[in-house]
This record gives sequence, C-alpha cells and structure tokens, in this order.
Amino acid sequence: MKRSSTDGDVYILAIESSCDETAAAVVKNGREVLSNIISSQIALHTLYGGVVPEIASRKHIEKINQVIEAALAEAKMTLEDMTAVAVTYGPGLVGALLVGVAEAKAIAYGAKKPLVGVHHIEGHVSANFIEHPDLEPPFVCLIVSGGHTHLVIVRDYGEFEIIGRTMDDAAGEAFDKVARAVGLGYPGGPKVDRAAKEGNPHAIEFPRARVGGSEYDFSFSGMKSAVLNYINQAQMKGEAISVPDLCASFQNAVVDVLVSRAVAAAKEFGYDKLAIAGGVASNSALREGMRKACEREGLKLYYPSPIYCTDNAAMIGAAAYYEYINGARAGWDLNAVPNLKLGER
Ligand code: KG4
Ligand code: ZN
Repeated sequence: MKRSSTDGDVYILAIESSCDETAAAVVKNGREVLSNIISSQIALHTLYGGVVPEIASRKHIEKINQVIEAALAEAKMTLEDMTAVAVTYGPGLVGALLVGVAEAKAIAYGAKKPLVGVHHIEGHVSANFIEHPDLEPPFVCLIVSGGHTHLVIVRDYGEFEIIGRTMDDAAGEAFDKVARAVGLGYPGGPKVDRAAKEGNPHAIEFPRARVGGSEYDFSFSGMKSAVLNYINQAQMKGEAISVPDLCASFQNAVVDVLVSRAVAAAKEFGYDKLAIAGGVASNSALREGMRKACEREGLKLYYPSPIYCTDNAAMIGAAAYYEYINGARAGWDLNAVPNLKLGER
C-alpha cells in the first residue's frame, strides 16, 4: 500500500552525513521508522586506521542520492509524500556535513518542503524514542560516541542541560586508540568488546580518572595512556600481553566510570529514567553494567538497538519530528556548523 501525508501524520525524510556513514531514513511521527538506509565507509577508512575527512566527503557525494532513493523506496513513498526534509548540520566533519546539508537544501527547495536542521547529538538521544514508545522527557541521558561523551538532562524534547562532558578524549575514541595499540584495527569499539568477552576484567587495574571541577565530567586520556604504558612495559620486559585480559580490564575501567557517574547524576538530580546513546552504547559490558546498577538503584534504563546507536538517519528523523512540531524551520542559508554546541540554534 502506498502511503501519503494527507492523513495528518508527519513524514520526515532525514539525512545524516556528519562522519563516515551516508544515511537516509523516512520516519513517521518521530517514532516509527519506515526505512533506515546506511551506507558505511568503514571498510575504506580501515585502510588508514581512522576516518580520513576528504575521503569521507567524496564518498558521501557519491552515495547520497542512491541512499535517499533507497530510503524512499523502502518506505514506499515519494518525495512529494514527505512533510519535511531534515538534515544533520553539526557537529561533525565540515566537508562531510556540507554534502548532507547541500543535498537536503536542494531537495527541500525543489520539492517545496520545509527544511529542519538537526543537532547530531540530539539525534543520538532521540534514537531512544524509536523503540521505547513510553519514553518521554524528562530523563538523564549519557551520550557516548566516537566524538562525544556528554551527560545531559533531557528536560523536554529538544531541551538539554549538559551536566558533564569529557575533558579530553571521547569514550569511543579511547576504545579506538586502545584497539589500535593492540593491533585490533579500526573501528576499535566492537573489536575490544568482542575480545573482552574472553578476558578477565580484573586482570589489570587501570586508573579511574577523576576530574577536578564537576563530579560528572569525564577523562579518558589518562586511562588510554595507562594502557599504552602497560603495553610498552610488557614489551620492554619481553613479556607477552593477553589481549583479551587487557581489553576486558580497560573496558571494565571505562564502564565503571560511565555507569557510576550516570547513575549518580540521575539520583542526585531526582530522575528515575536513564537512557544511553551513541556508538559506545552498543557495548555489551556497558549495557550489562548499566542494567545491574539501574536495577539496584530503582532506575528505568533505556537503550537503542545497536543499529540505532551508531550513526544513522532514523535518529535524525526522530529528533527532527519534535523540532518540526515545535515550529523549528531552517532557512535556505542553513550551513554546516562543525563545532555546533548542544542547545544552540
Ligand atoms: O555514534 P558513532 O557511530 O559516531 C560518532 O558520532 O562518533 O560512534 C562510533 C564510535 C566508535 O568510536 C566505535 O569504536 C564505538 O562508537 N563503538 C563501540 C562499540 N560499537 C561502536 N565502542 C565500544 N563497544 C562497542 N560495541
Ligand atoms: Zn554519532
């Protein structure tokens, strides 16, 4: 059956190109994903051990029309059926963001549809709305990805108060660097997660860094350095390291810090719902650690399926719906903002 937007529902064509996934999705009323197409460049960037910005931009430009066509086809809808077009305009790699922004503007202009600009982190948070119809603000959310580590209070849709953030590396970045150091390759998070399953999380005691200032801020560079020192020392002594033990112990240290601060924040600020989001939210130890702590503390835990944790456009469509019904419209001068702050317009 062909769907149409004349029935009062809001259909959003969402586009995401802030890093190394070219993605498009059709989302109905912010919570129902009709299609979610992701063209990943991971295999390409793996050759270089990380995302190469110029290559990312070039791949986006090559793939974006096909990805959008596929998203509309899978939703069995046309551009004319869309209520609005939404796009991530920051934060992210500028050249990568520009491809999505230019595309969304051209499409919206050509089809005479309203345009909505979406903050990438707001998208990650909103990924939780897709599979949890009961989840509504206010709640506390921990966003842990390759580029960001934020602890926020989601006061309302599109309304955030940042209560903690990383002072140096993002959690995902630390996973990626540790993975590279032990030769697991890029992206490291899923590989460390897998290797850790065979290891002892208490084999090596890595420091749980505390940051001066806010008790909800994070620091991962010390932990990463401790891992690198451990590897160097073992090499100097000619000792073999156990990659599973190292991965499990490092992961345990990261999870410990993330869980304890997120749970403490929810309790301290008086919220009974805690959500996690971003690529690292698919980490099995983090999910398990959060599940246990939330059960113990009487908090309700929410997390997206792995496909909605890492970058995707469905989460952008979910966030865009709430922006759209609140009246947010981007002008034809919408630009990419690589360092866009959460809560800024
Ligand atoms: O959200 P995302 O796709 O991109 C950003 O907005 O940064 O997150 C990617 C990050 C990478 O650092 C990747 O290593 C990490 O998420 N990641 C994981 C896992 N899956 C992805 N980290 C730990 N465990 C995982 N299972
Ligand atoms: Zn992301």
